[in-house]
Amino acid sequence: MSGSLNPSSLPRLLGEWNVGASPAYRELADVVRLLILDGRVALDVALPSERSLAATLGISRTTVTAAYALLREQGFLSSGQGSRSRSCIPSQGPAHTGGNDGGLRLSGAPGLAVPDGILDLAYASLPASGEVVHRAFAAALTELPALLPGFGYDALGVGPLREAIAARYTAAGVPTTAGQILVTSGAQHALNIVLRTLAGRSGKVLVEHPSYPNALDAIRAAGCRPVTVAMPAAHRLGARPDRAGADGPAGWDLEAMESALLQQRPSMAYVVPDFHNPTGRLMPDAQRRRLVAAAAASGTVLVADETLRELNLDGASSTPMAAFGPAVVSLGSLSKSHWAGLRTGWIRASEPLIQRFAAARTTLDLGGPVVEQLAAAHLVNDLAEPLPARLAALRGNRDSLLDLIRGHLPDWEPERPAGGLSVWCRLPAPVSTALAVLAPDFGIRLAAGPRFGVGGAFEYYLRLPFTLPPEQLESAVLALRASQDRLDRSPQLRRNLPAQPAAAIA
Ligand SMILES: Cc1ncc(COP(=O)(O)O)c(C=O)c1O
Repeated sequence: MSGSLNPSSLPRLLGEWNVGASPAYRELADVVRLLILDGRVALDVALPSERSLAATLGISRTTVTAAYALLREQGFLSSGQGSRSRSCIPSQGPAHTGGNDGGLRLSGAPGLAVPDGILDLAYASLPASGEVVHRAFAAALTELPALLPGFGYDALGVGPLREAIAARYTAAGVPTTAGQILVTSGAQHALNIVLRTLAGRSGKVLVEHPSYPNALDAIRAAGCRPVTVAMPAAHRLGARPDRAGADGPAGWDLEAMESALLQQRPSMAYVVPDFHNPTGRLMPDAQRRRLVAAAAASGTVLVADETLRELNLDGASSTPMAAFGPAVVSLGSLSKSHWAGLRTGWIRASEPLIQRFAAARTTLDLGGPVVEQLAAAHLVNDLAEPLPARLAALRGNRDSLLDLIRGHLPDWEPERPAGGLSVWCRLPAPVSTALAVLAPDFGIRLAAGPRFGVGGAFEYYLRLPFTLPPEQLESAVLALRASQDRLDRSPQLRRNLPAQPAAAIA
């Protein structure tokens, strides 16, 4: 789309912006940035000239010039020579092209592109368990020569890795053969293969609400409609940090899931029962049993994403979903236990279904890289090795983050997660997107709550990963406090928030 904003439109959208705020140019830039991000100023439209905007708003031209300059620097305005500034978002603007200090780093992750050196709270991921991963690759290289005479294509994955994954399921109480495993390039790839095979265009896919943003995107990209079932709000279950019991809340509304399955009969249900992203909840075995039975009764394929299963911070026990029914499809990954850079995951299902997945996979790729898979086989055989150190660090980080929130943001309500990598936090007002917009100014990058939902839900929530060490978490929480203070001081920023903001902010 291209065009220009009617000279009176921007002032009307700006409304009673906080003219007295100091500095005024920053305030003006913030409000315009919010209008662009939530779609009320469309992309690639020319904004009023500095002179006409200053005249309409009754402010100095210097203020408008400085505000436009800041927006340009942040990548929200572009301007060709001799033409008026046009709205854009950082991935489309010119500000990130150069290597200048104010340049912006591109990112495909949830949240905004932000200046380098910023603390990234939009990713919930850890660095590699370095030495362990390196050793596995060294071993893989010694095994590689034996495989070089082959073609190297294998849509199912290399034998040793499939056997290692199958053995882990068997040891966890779910007898599994290598024929029931397909190796993928991560759990996200696995989900795409499953969607391509099972969901069908315009199929319905039941999801927890909130859910993992990239899964929601994959479901929509497959032409399917997410059917959401709300997870009970923690604050209603007494899961505030000061009140949370050792057992925590039950976490899933099984009655609602059962009736959605019965009434909507979705072709697929996608759930994250093991340290759910973003809430960190663990589904109790009794609920797993009920869910598997309900999915079978409605003819729905239940897909359990076990990506975070190893990140069990409190040692609670649970049984893999596949133990409760042969039709369950399980997705797994080494991304959280070892490193996302391995890009290694898998699907566990019945052998006939695995054959269908393999056929569907070849429309996406023809197999995974062999050395990575050989290394992954070593990692899976010794899966527990890096976990004690990793879990101890994560436990310390989680507890620090909860303490810091309690100390600096006493009216925020974080839910204490049983595992995983993030805290799902209820805010005192629906300002998640506004915080995510302001946060880079204070040195942090956030993924706003609506990224985890459908239709603009979760403006009252923020996911805060505890993957950074405590010193950096402290800086991050202080930055959150500063962002919140800025919002509290700027009524216009809050007034400009849409009641139902767009689900995606970047
Ligand atoms: C629930 C869930 N599923 C899938 C993924 C993506 O996993 P992978 O890196 O294996 O594609 C993530 C990553 O955060 C996740 O949290």
